[in-house]
Order: sequence, then C-alpha cells, then structure tokens
Amino acid sequence: MISFQEYPDYESVSEAASEQLLALVQRKPDAVICVATGATPLLTYQRFVDKVKSEKADVSRVTFVKLDEWVGLAPDNPATCEAFLQLHLLKPLGIEPERYIAFTPDKADHEESARVVREIAECGGLDLCVLGIGKNGHLGLNEPDEWLEPACHITSLDERTRLHDMLKQADRPVEQGITLGLKDILAAKEVLLLVAGEGKQQAFSALRERKVSTKVPASFLWLHPKTSCLYCSM
Ligand code: PGA
Repeated sequence: MISFQEYPDYESVSEAASEQLLALVQRKPDAVICVATGATPLLTYQRFVDKVKSEKADVSRVTFVKLDEWVGLAPDNPATCEAFLQLHLLKPLGIEPERYIAFTPDKADHEESARVVREIAECGGLDLCVLGIGKNGHLGLNEPDEWLEPACHITSLDERTRLHDMLKQADRPVEQGITLGLKDILAAKEVLLLVAGEGKQQAFSALRERKVSTKVPASFLWLHPKTSCLYCSM
C-alpha cells in the first residue's frame, strides 16, 4: 500500500523526509538504507546531514546502499550516482567504505549484481529504500516495458532517461544502467517515495490510479506493505 502525504513545496517534502531518516537512524543505529540519487532527494540528504551533525546522531553503524548507477562512466565522473552520493551523503557523514554497498560504475556485469544483492542479504536486508520517480514512471532504473526483470540487472535506458539532467555532465552518451530490481525494492521493510520537480505530473497521476502496470514501474509499490509517498502539491 502507498500512503500519500502532500506538502506545499520541495523544501517541506525534504524537511519531512530528512526527519524520517534521522528518526530511523536514532531508532536503529545499524539501519541499512538504500538511497536514490537525482534532484529530488538532494535537499533531503543535505538536511539529513545537517540534522545528524546538529543532533550528534551516531551514523557509524548505518550501511548505505546505492540504488542504481549509469553504466560506462569512469568512477570519478561527476555524472555518476557514485559522485553524487560521495559528495552529498557519504563524505559529509564520514561513512566508512565497509558501510557502503554499491555497484562500481565501470564494472557493471552479472557478478557485480550478484555481489551487491549478496552483501545486502548479509547485512540483514534493507530497512528503508529512499526513492524518486522518473518522468517516465521508472523506479531506480527499472524502465517501463512490456515486461520487467524482477531482480537486480543491467538495463537499456529508456529514451527519456537518456536525457536525465545528471547525464548532462557525462563525457559520453550513456545507454545502459545497473539497478536493484523491483524484487529487491519491494523486499525493503519501508519505502519512502519522494515526488517533486518539473515533469512528474503524468507519472504521478498514473501512480495514483492504483493500477499495477509494467508501463509504470513505480506502480509496483502498491504491492509493498509500507510505502510513504511525500509529494509536492502539483
Ligand atoms: P530526479 O530523477 O530526482 O532527478 O527528478 C528521478 C528519476 O529519474 O528517477
């Protein structure tokens, strides 16, 4: 089920989401948190970092998991999900490498998928998955299609995803991504779906129809027991 909570603007969505993240790490100091990248969660992460510092919360035992990654970019390319998470979350929080599970940007293959899934299982599974929704309704890089691959996989990017703002900084065209699958996302104990920004109305309306469709991968969250969707008034 998805419970929807409306907020007047991006700042208040981010404030509420960062409070939820802080509450989780205070309640469960060894939480395993899967994190999306992109414009939507950016302010949530910045506010979360500020709150961790001001509250002196201990995040040394929290494990972060990277949701997805573009395939084919060098690891230090500023367009990577890696660069985003290092800059906005991992470095400011001082997260040790052993508390971070992630696809290596330039090494996407089936072994890499299997490793990430195995490491998540070894940590006891995801406590929370922080997600955004794509303009095309995708979740992570689970792209709309006639059928969906349930497991962690390498995917061919939808043409709208190839135009994603993050890729404007890439030094070459990116045609593939690697992503946790819907099976992995739906196995998280809780999901926090953030919806904000231009161009999301169509995907968000489709989500709100309560119909599960492979054409709107985010609609699979209707099958999840505890998803909160925080969204900006549209
Ligand atoms: P955005 O991307 O947060 O940058 O809008 C979300 C997505 O495409 O999944």
